[in-house]
Amino acid sequence: MKITITGSLGNISKPLAEILVRNGHEVVVISSDDKKVKDIEALGAKAAVGSVSDVTFLTGAFTGADAIYTMVPPNWATTNYRQYIAGTGENYLAAIKASGVKRVVNLSSIGAHLNGGTGPIAGLHDVELLLNTLDGVDVKHLRAGIFYINFFFDIGTIRNSGIMGNNYSSQTKLVMVHPRDIAAAAAEELQGSFEGKSHRYVVSEEGEMADIVKVLGTSIGKPDLPWVQFSDEETYAGMTAAGMSAAIAGPYVEMGQAINSGVLFEDFNRHRNGVWGRTKLADFATEFAAVYKSQQ
Ligand SMILES: NC(=O)c1ccc[n+]([C@@H]2O[C@H](COP(=O)([O-])OP(=O)(O)OC[C@H]3O[C@@H](n4cnc5c(N)ncnc54)[C@H](OP(=O)(O)O)[C@@H]3O)[C@@H](O)[C@H]2O)c1
Repeated sequence: MKITITGSLGNISKPLAEILVRNGHEVVVISSDDKKVKDIEALGAKAAVGSVSDVTFLTGAFTGADAIYTMVPPNWATTNYRQYIAGTGENYLAAIKASGVKRVVNLSSIGAHLNGGTGPIAGLHDVELLLNTLDGVDVKHLRAGIFYINFFFDIGTIRNSGIMGNNYSSQTKLVMVHPRDIAAAAAEELQGSFEGKSHRYVVSEEGEMADIVKVLGTSIGKPDLPWVQFSDEETYAGMTAAGMSAAIAGPYVEMGQAINSGVLFEDFNRHRNGVWGRTKLADFATEFAAVYKSQQ
């Protein structure tokens, strides 16, 4: 099959490209950076260099593909995160229509069933709705859990203050996933035979924040690492002090509120129709410890 994937050599797209190339597919990888071309070709794929903001470029990259993988790249410079995410979805919608692609696997998120109150995930809700308007195109949304790798952002606070924390409590149950497990699910769907519009949860493990901190703390020789629940105001102040813009910090505080109340996970908990990934928190803890050590 000819398969075009967005997301360059990112957390999901690199292992996804590797699986698809290994399985004998003709893979095109979209990157915004021409310096990545060599590394993409080294994987056995072709590179298409351009931006997800450019519908003409996307149309060219999608044309002739039997299936595509769409994702919205993070954009820390945007002044309206939801609008940026939905706008990227509109670009995909236009390019899919113009290119005639008939099969789409789209990266979404747990919580995308909600129309608001979820920070950036509300934008992914918009993208799901947009792609569901495509006539005669099969679309599978992968509603991924919270990435384990987000915990890498806590390493600075652990080093500087000896704590981990956010605006949700130690009793919060987090539904998590490893990007590798998302890549495996995306590959399965791209090569599979789904029809119509549907979503699938992709999760690797769930656990209470207190237990998660115990596992991660133990992996770096800090078994008593405390989890601190900050107020929304403290969380926002911490994020902006660390250099995040107000347009990003605001939505992330809102997402933390949705994690704390549990609404983010309610649809997943109601259906529990996900396929569980193989990478458990204990496996990720080894990666976490290696990154922690490398940042010494
Ligand atoms: N973090 C979570 O907990 C979570 C949970 C659920 C869903 N998600 C979704 O997952 C996404 C991140 O996926 P990921 O980790 O696989 O991505 P990633 O590794 O962070 O980024 C993918 C790549 O996209 C490329 N890119 C950036 N801007 C671009 C542009 N304008 N045009 C074309 N390519 C561009 C970049 O590579 P180049 O420099 O080579 O262009 C970047 O490395 C989030 O944006 C969110 O939608 C995240």
